[in-house]
Amino acid sequence: MDQTAPLKTVKFHSGEAIPLEMHKVRVVQKLNLVPIEDRKAAMFDAGFNTFLLKNKDVFLDMLTDSGTNAMSDNQVAAMSVADDSYAGSASYYKLEKAVQDVFNQKYYLPVHQGRAAEHIISKVFVKPGMVVPMNYHFTTTKAHIEICGGTIEEIYTDEALKIKSDFPFKGNMDIDKLHKVIEKWGVDKVAYIRFEAGTNLIGGQPFSMQNLREVSAIAKSHGIKLLMDTSLINENLYFIKIREAGYQNVPIKDILHEMLSYTDFSYFSGRKVSCTRGGGICTNDHAIYMQMRDLVPLFEGFLTYGGMSVREIEAMAVGLYETLDFDVISHSPTFIKYLVDSLDSRGIPVITPAGGLGCHLDAGAFISHVPQGQYPAGALAAAVYIASGVRGMERGTISSVRDEAGNDVLADVELLRLAFPRRVFTLSQIKYLEDRIQWLYDNRKLIGGLEWTEEPPVLRFFVGKLKPIGDWVDKLVAKFRADFGDSL
Ligand SMILES: Cc1ncc(COP(=O)(O)O)c(C=O)c1O
Repeated sequence: MDQTAPLKTVKFHSGEAIPLEMHKVRVVQKLNLVPIEDRKAAMFDAGFNTFLLKNKDVFLDMLTDSGTNAMSDNQVAAMSVADDSYAGSASYYKLEKAVQDVFNQKYYLPVHQGRAAEHIISKVFVKPGMVVPMNYHFTTTKAHIEICGGTIEEIYTDEALKIKSDFPFKGNMDIDKLHKVIEKWGVDKVAYIRFEAGTNLIGGQPFSMQNLREVSAIAKSHGIKLLMDTSLINENLYFIKIREAGYQNVPIKDILHEMLSYTDFSYFSGRKVSCTRGGGICTNDHAIYMQMRDLVPLFEGFLTYGGMSVREIEAMAVGLYETLDFDVISHSPTFIKYLVDSLDSRGIPVITPAGGLGCHLDAGAFISHVPQGQYPAGALAAAVYIASGVRGMERGTISSVRDEAGNDVLADVELLRLAFPRRVFTLSQIKYLEDRIQWLYDNRKLIGGLEWTEEPPVLRFFVGKLKPIGDWVDKLVAKFRADFGDSL
């Protein structure tokens, strides 16, 4: 790994720009691609909710990248030398050293996953009536702040929610809005400012170092703490290196250290950043560390494991060092860009520019004939699964809630997210998906809407069940058979 070299790229003689896997696959897991009739039956069994599909019926699982990333050979090897002990495990000290080297943070509190860090941070810093300004929320983050009596204020820029954009840093905070929010609430009511790297819910979009620097200066001038959620830091680092002027020749480690130098504390989900499971809270501030330290044994486990197994701790230590490898952090964004640019060039509606988490189809435009009240994003998720065996996640009105009068609160955008677990899928698999999405787009008029059969009152998208309105699924399957013959 040469961290000081300028960006390395491989050019194809043909001129075609395709991403290249910078690893070889040495342990594999068998996949099933069941016939379309079986996929149709599986979708009816799952109540048209991709969360309820069984993995044996799924070809490419693009529901999420959380806990589904591929580990490296060195991570797997490290797991076999783990030191099992409740307190003082040698494995823990390797991880603590990795946090110090990779993040340049002196103090580390281990937790069993990202939301456990959010639980502890919110419990300590968020009091009833307080606000947490942030670039964008994540579901568990918001819930933990609200359960402590706090409120969130999202201060994203106008570009952030645009479907079509070429703005390179959609994850930035709007500086004017930040000033206004601090003025409106008063400094004493601001628990801390939260900056999320690679903003999950707006498509893995990064913030720039310049924006972070400005936000940090404002926070410091008011004596407000700045917290960073580094769960999706890999891809944010990648985008700063390739998109932000002045960073092309800066080693990844230095970019990361500069980012964290602007913060007071940070936390991460190891299910994402280190391709393992677990997480942690990091800081260089002893007082901040001491405020949270005693909650770890109460909620997570002793300070040298925090709810993680020693095997995961070993793998996490290695995974954190691998975050500094440009080949590792560039894999997902380059594959996502390949799919997004290819679909975009064919006129298929996707969020642009490509982010670092997945490809987001704009279901509202893809099947504009399906009214929003009939859940276009959910219908498209079902149609993509039936046509390809690929499972994505509805991010639209089904993921929203009802108001007090019982009416649906329509989502700002109806998206189907196809997440890219890191280093898991090959280019031919992505090309297969691209082909099936094209076929679906050509036949989009066949896709219809959905209606509820079982609707839970809270978090309905996880376990709720729906059914198709009319017989559109039968028509879609019949057209597939007419076009593809006996193909899977
Ligand atoms: C940005 C971000 N923060 C926090 C979390 C919560 O982490 P975990 O799922 O490990 O609890 C996630 C999970 O997806 C995330 O994407």
